[in-house]
Amino acid sequence: QSKEEQTALEANEWVVKLYHNLLRNTKEGKTGYEYLLGRGLTEETIDTFQLGFAPNSRDFTVKFLEGKGYKPQELLHTGLFSADKENKPQDRFRGRVIFPIRNHLGKTVGFGGRTLGGGQEPKYLNSSESELFQKGRMLFNFDLARSEIRKTAQVVVFEGYNDVIAAYQAGVKNGVATLGTSLTDAQARLLKRYAEQVVICYDGDKAGFEASYRALQVLQKAGNHVRVAMLRDGLDPDDFIREHGAEKFKRSIIDAALTAMSFMMQYLKQDYNLSIEGDRLQYVEKVLDEIAQIESSVEREHYLRELSNAMDLSVDTLASDLAPRLRKKE
Ligand code: CTP
Ligand code: MN
Ligand code: MN
Ligand code: MN
Ligand code: MN
Repeated sequence: QSKEEQTALEANEWVVKLYHNLLRNTKEGKTGYEYLLGRGLTEETIDTFQLGFAPNSRDFTVKFLEGKGYKPQELLHTGLFSADKENKPQDRFRGRVIFPIRNHLGKTVGFGGRTLGGGQEPKYLNSSESELFQKGRMLFNFDLARSEIRKTAQVVVFEGYNDVIAAYQAGVKNGVATLGTSLTDAQARLLKRYAEQVVICYDGDKAGFEASYRALQVLQKAGNHVRVAMLRDGLDPDDFIREHGAEKFKRSIIDAALTAMSFMMQYLKQDYNLSIEGDRLQYVEKVLDEIAQIESSVEREHYLRELSNAMDLSVDTLASDLAPRLRKKE
């Protein structure tokens, strides 16, 4: 670890405490605290995740860290500040609730900040990317989730911090999130090292459905066993828990997650009218293309059977259509 990174890590630790303390103990932070309570979070959850509040000021955090001996150039390397015209650091997060983002060792490498509503744009802001904070290389909450992932041999991947935190409070403690970006190969490999099974639990909207499909491909390529939990009516996991409660979330969403193939069959159906013969055949071809991507032959056979049942075609027929696709891959 470079000296620069070490300095940034220490600055981040100060800022976690600063923002959390402001949220919990000050009049200005109260709006942020009440915002989080209004979203159904408990005091305990707010403390567990060290959620905070950044005051609406251009230099509150700059001044605080300068008081601790940090130089402007060091501050600019923390990702917590933007540079003004004279290249001086300015607070990046203003009037936002703050989500510390820790790496797998529990070190805070970045922050996310959400507006309290009221039309401030963008809704979310993150620390700028750096050697230390690479969104594509880390997963939110991996440090807290790790022991539960080991215990259950399962990890649940969400889209956002709020989903992870709501699920955690609801007792689903093996959740992590990509930070608003698509799941990368690096993240898929990390998950493979720790979990037997990955459950994708993205938002129940069109974007979440599409992202689930892409994440599924990436996870399978890295050799993960994947299931896909499906939400509906545009609800995301956080919304669902607030509306239907923890038990229903566990039972009817997480435990009822679809197998990869069932999901894929649903996903691919969108493009076809299965009451038309020609479409049916094209659909089967398309599903076979996907099955051919799977590395394990045992899994391929399992999926061939599912397709055979669903489409009323013999496994042998499907297998002979699959064979040339497998040869082409070699
Ligand atoms: N995100 C981001 N920047 C944005 C939008 C989203 O970094 N402009 C990330 C955040 O981590 C967010 C996640 O993507 O949590 C999922 O986005 P979205 O579903 O829009 O956010 P929610 O978590 O549902 O936000 P909220 O419930 O607060 O509206
Ligand atoms: Mn979303
Ligand atoms: Mn969402
Ligand atoms: Mn939303
Ligand atoms: Mn949400």
